Amino acid sequence: MEPKGIPLISGFSKLTRKERIEILNKLINQNEDLLPWLDSWMHPDAGQQATFQKFSENYITSFHIPFGVVPNMVINGRHYMVPMVIEESSVIAAAARSAKFWSCRGGFRAEILGTERKGQIHLTWSGHPQRLRDRFEGLTQDMLAATALTTRKMKERGGGITGIRLVDKTAAIPGYYQVDVSFETADAMGANFINTCLEEMAAVLERELSHYQEEGKVEIIMSILSNYTPGSLIRCSVECDIQELSGISGKLSPEEFARKFELASRIAGVDVSRAVTHNKGIYNGVDAVVLATGNDWRAVEACGHAFASAGGSYSSLSEAKISGNRFSYTLNLPIALGTVGGLTKSHPQAALALSILGNPGAGELMMIAAAAGLANNFSAVTALITSGIQQGHMKMHLPNILKQLNATPQEEQSIRAHFEGKQVSHAAVELFVNNLRNQHG
Ligand code: MEV
Repeated sequence: MEPKGIPLISGFSKLTRKERIEILNKLINQNEDLLPWLDSWMHPDAGQQATFQKFSENYITSFHIPFGVVPNMVINGRHYMVPMVIEESSVIAAAARSAKFWSCRGGFRAEILGTERKGQIHLTWSGHPQRLRDRFEGLTQDMLAATALTTRKMKERGGGITGIRLVDKTAAIPGYYQVDVSFETADAMGANFINTCLEEMAAVLERELSHYQEEGKVEIIMSILSNYTPGSLIRCSVECDIQELSGISGKLSPEEFARKFELASRIAGVDVSRAVTHNKGIYNGVDAVVLATGNDWRAVEACGHAFASAGGSYSSLSEAKISGNRFSYTLNLPIALGTVGGLTKSHPQAALALSILGNPGAGELMMIAAAAGLANNFSAVTALITSGIQQGHMKMHLPNILKQLNATPQEEQSIRAHFEGKQVSHAAVELFVNNLRNQHG
């Protein structure tokens, strides 16, 4: 059956950019040619533009997202300006509020609990499991030797393959096994390095086991890194005397604030619907740093959400505690980042983000991203248990509403004056603008 909509296209990637845009023009029935408008979002410098458009196939233009910085982020006694790339208007403001608050209360304390990366060779074996175990024992050295050239440079940087084991998964799928390989990748994300090593090892396994057809048949299904990296873990926390929370507790006493905060944290610990939103607030900060520094935020998110479910049901990644007169808030974040390779240097703005951070190593960047996540999460929960989220959120969202309503500079001035200290909502601003426009004919 023919799919609905426009006819299927073959060879789209072979078309020139102009030809692709002509197709889009027809698709959206635009009277005006999209081309000059799309051109206006491209980089004016031809060299820079060439760099950006190489990042993806079927390029038509660049998509802009704000790049901002969060000042006053004190992590392990050091002051950072943290770059963030994010489209949600309140995220940087929320992180900055939290960063400033904690900067005079000891700052964020972060530690690296591990930096292990993982990869897997997925295979089937038709013979007796013991035969495979015996053969595998004898083959591990050959498999490692096959990666010698690939791992040489990584070893010089302190990385390499740190473990290799055969995992029997036949209870889940008959005949299914995994070779589980652990890696250290120094400051690199290491995706290409890991995948190359795995494919080199899988080739040895396939070749050597095929000599023992009478014992069983081997089939390599796939070799790929795992984005689940619970062994690459950051713990980040903030802590202060409960009385010191008065700076942020609004109308609540510091004790009431701490009690309500701890309860909000427990709710996120036991209820999946709340936990997902709570963790989304963490990833507001984490993703913004990950994106700014040219890292893979899909991998970071996928890993974090799996980790949040490791106890059997999805739960919160952060936890508040009250112990005597002390309030603490801790985030355990599995995160694998790199500061060399990938986009980290080839994207000029990612390179700038890293230099704003003082060109950290991967572990340091992981701690910074975790601190940003905790900062955003702390601000979000603080707002939720005090003023409510909409007051601050809608205030930050006001420019978007003004744009949607095509407000003139004079109207903007009147709107800002009118809504000072008042609850902002799209409906209320629209009503106010309509009244203004009716008054002025
Ligand atoms: C909005 O981007 C994030 C929050 O929903 C997080 C939360 O509810 O904790 C405010």
